[in-house]
Amino acid sequence: MTFMNNLYLEHFDRDTFLSEYWQQKPVVIKRFFPNFVDPVDENDLAGLAQEAEVDSRIVSNTNGQWDVAQGPIEDFDQACKGQWTLLVQGVDKYIHDVTPIMTPFNFIPHWRLDDLMVSYATQGAGVGPHIDQYDVFLVQGKGKRRWRVGKPDNYAEILPHPKLRQIEGFEPIIDVVVEPGDVVYVPPGWPHDGETIADSLTYSVGYRAPDNLQLAESLAMMLDRGEAQHRYSDPKRAPQRAPYLVSQNDVTALKLQLINAINSDGFTHALLEAMSEQGIPEYPLDTEVTLQQVSNEFAAGISFAPAPGVRALITEGKHGLPRAMFVNGTQFNFAKTDSEWFEALASGNVLNATCCQDAPSFTFLETLTTLLNNGYWEWYEG
Ligand code: SIN
Ligand code: CO
Repeated sequence: MTFMNNLYLEHFDRDTFLSEYWQQKPVVIKRFFPNFVDPVDENDLAGLAQEAEVDSRIVSNTNGQWDVAQGPIEDFDQACKGQWTLLVQGVDKYIHDVTPIMTPFNFIPHWRLDDLMVSYATQGAGVGPHIDQYDVFLVQGKGKRRWRVGKPDNYAEILPHPKLRQIEGFEPIIDVVVEPGDVVYVPPGWPHDGETIADSLTYSVGYRAPDNLQLAESLAMMLDRGEAQHRYSDPKRAPQRAPYLVSQNDVTALKLQLINAINSDGFTHALLEAMSEQGIPEYPLDTEVTLQQVSNEFAAGISFAPAPGVRALITEGKHGLPRAMFVNGTQFNFAKTDSEWFEALASGNVLNATCCQDAPSFTFLETLTTLLNNGYWEWYEG
């Protein structure tokens, strides 16, 4: 069966991956990370799982009996029974050191990226066969795991615990044991199951894709702000045969009214806000820094970097899009002459006065000051 060919790659090629695998079929990429070294361990995960703001859970199986403990976890002895997996969502928002796990996947734009979930699973453990709605790169850290992936189908869903969605089972088209640095890519809708052979860390680089309801929420948000608001009107209405008839023209006019709102600059703005929204809480500085302070520090060679997980987006001012940077739902406009500095910011790299040739503008330093004050950028002490 040709369909099942090429599901194991010894060498990764970005263009082949995008044209043949992304959103189309799963694939195992051996040694994607050569000489993989785990940036975190189970103790780091346990530390995060104790925090109320962190989304975590422990899924356990004791002699066939599934249980789920939702974080914050207070009693690990109680939750870690039988074969268990500790899963922590959004680790990229708390730990800088995990960034190198995500950067090799930068051929997919940042607005599609959701977060990095990290799990620690004991021998024999797993969360059972299930289907996710989003793309995921499963990066194997320490240990060994057997991954099975099947084809999309109408699988019967089962809930062995109210907080655990599984499917009954599937015929695997991939059945592989992965080792540190190996990656399994799973598109949305493809069932998968990871059984731990030796205590394992798994890094799930997870994506997001808006559905129409989410897009409509952005539209409603914009209309709520009073932008592109318009009411139906029908001057010079053509006479019609009977009052109970609805004409195609009227339906078309109503649809067009909404299409015009969708095509407005206001909706572009609302979309870009939503695309850059990462749900990162603002951690404002206790004592705000002034533009003067930041300018002086910048001139003195001090370096700055984004807070963990913050990924800015840029639109280049072409084809009806503004020239702007977006950070977690906030827009910062800039002039064309500032492009190099703003791209240096959005690159996520360490930033200092030597990054670009031209001196930074007032707008750039003002933006950096705002980002530092609301906690999205930090002083770099590397
Ligand atoms: C896990 O890390 O154990 C679960 C990841 C997944 O299947 O999505
Ligand atoms: Co999954």
